[in-house]
Amino acid sequence: MNPSPSPAAQRATPHDADLVVFGGTGDLSMRKLLPALYHCDRDGRLAPQTRIIALSRGGLTDDDLRGKVDAEVRSAVPEGDDPEVWRRFLARLRHVPVDVRDDGDLHEGWRDLAALLGGNEDRDRIFYLASPPMTFGPFCRQAQQAGLVTPRSRVVLEKPLGRDLASARQINDEVGAIFAESQIYRIDHYLGKETVQNLLVLRFANAFLEPIWNSLWIDHVQISVTETVGTPGRRGYYDQAGALRDMVQNHLLQLLCLVAMEPPARNDRESIRDEKLKVLQSLRPISGSEADRFTVRGQYAEGPGMPGYLDEPDRSPPTDASYRVETFTAIRAEVKNWRWAGVPFYLRTGKRLPSRRSEIVVQFKDVPHSIFPGGSPNRLVLRLQPSEGIDLHIMAKEPGAGEVTLRPVPLGLSFARTFGTRVPDAYERLLMDVMGGNPTLFMRRDEVEAAWRWIDPILATWDSAGTPPEPYPAGSAGPPSAHELLGRSGRAWHEEEPA
Ligand SMILES: NC(=O)c1ccc[n+]([C@@H]2O[C@H](COP(=O)([O-])OP(=O)(O)OC[C@H]3O[C@@H](n4cnc5c(N)ncnc54)[C@H](OP(=O)(O)O)[C@@H]3O)[C@@H](O)[C@H]2O)c1
Repeated sequence: MNPSPSPAAQRATPHDADLVVFGGTGDLSMRKLLPALYHCDRDGRLAPQTRIIALSRGGLTDDDLRGKVDAEVRSAVPEGDDPEVWRRFLARLRHVPVDVRDDGDLHEGWRDLAALLGGNEDRDRIFYLASPPMTFGPFCRQAQQAGLVTPRSRVVLEKPLGRDLASARQINDEVGAIFAESQIYRIDHYLGKETVQNLLVLRFANAFLEPIWNSLWIDHVQISVTETVGTPGRRGYYDQAGALRDMVQNHLLQLLCLVAMEPPARNDRESIRDEKLKVLQSLRPISGSEADRFTVRGQYAEGPGMPGYLDEPDRSPPTDASYRVETFTAIRAEVKNWRWAGVPFYLRTGKRLPSRRSEIVVQFKDVPHSIFPGGSPNRLVLRLQPSEGIDLHIMAKEPGAGEVTLRPVPLGLSFARTFGTRVPDAYERLLMDVMGGNPTLFMRRDEVEAAWRWIDPILATWDSAGTPPEPYPAGSAGPPSAHELLGRSGRAWHEEEPA
């Protein structure tokens, strides 16, 4: 008798699927989705008959699309590029010209898509909406009108999910009218990062940390996502977004949730999301004069060799919105519950800063009584980029006779070095989760709306203030107020350790 495969192996067996990427010729597809899918294919995680069907308004043939992907994507997957796999991967690609219009008759492309998909309801069908959010509702309605939404269909929604609570609700209502919540995958690619998943393992698969993961032992937490790039050519988008909507509402709040959440009862789709939701609901609201004290908004001005936001090359000149939009924000947040009472969570994100880094820093309290001079408190640093890993900074004695001299040294875990494998891109993990029907690392409707509920009053206060954001020179460490936000309680932002 053949031994039956283990549950893990069964889960790993890929099903044949059709992945329909709406916006399949766009930047996100070319830079992220297709390289991720190639790596999945190379690792044997795409079933033999799985197809990737790109939709756009461009009149491309299948071969045109393959030529474009060959020219634009192959260079992005140099490690381990296998010509045989590459040929197999290209053969999976199809292109169907479809115009998703707001109203009116269905574009003829939907008929072609229906013919390509066939009537096979047993096959997994995934609609990945890599397109602007105002197209989500119309896309779902038209897919249904075209008879393409089957019980085995899922839909993936890219960020941004609206620009405030009202618009997020509208998108959720429109998509929810066609797909059940269990079929909707709202992606936040930060949740697919190795370090982020390792944060859960670190907290809940090790006994030593959880007893000290609270306000008795932790002084504060910092979550920073800093970028060196500006927004050349993207002002049209960025004027309407800004750092708070673009980064904090989704990525930074999701990271905060994973740091602050209670241990879930199980590692399953609802338990983790239930706990994250409780954190979002426990965030102390910030509005009015508190927004002045606890939030900072900045906009980069000219810096060494770099233009200011308003002078970035673009198709159109700056508008009123350009003068008001923040390219930097810092916030002092609080999670009002038993575990975290009094522990500030400092959030920071911005463009044209000195380094490109995403990290969570958990700063422990100092020893209650020091017998050595010159110590500093322990610090746990979870690095999401550029090189994913975890460092626990402890105090050690410098070698040598004579006086004891203390030095903070990192006990480090680099995933790439320790495990000797390529660290997969977050999109690989998340795409495979969608294919496997596992929504644990995707945001549920109530989470997204709870995040907007916290963000909206901050936005409203900023809007009503009528003052421009604080300028900071491009390439500098952000506006002075961001440093005062911590400085007034004797704290400072964690900056990159010198190499
Ligand atoms: N780029 C990123 O790194 C990134 C990261 C996270 C989230 N996102 C979000 O993902 C979405 C797409 O971003 P992107 O940078 O890939 O944009 P993009 O480069 O402008 O691509 C948009 C894609 O959508 C297609 N499209 C647009 N309107 C359409 C319509 N009415 N009917 C059919 N196809 C249509 C475009 O093709 P045609 O114009 O040929 O029709 C193109 O394939 C945006 O909402 C963005 O905010 C992007």
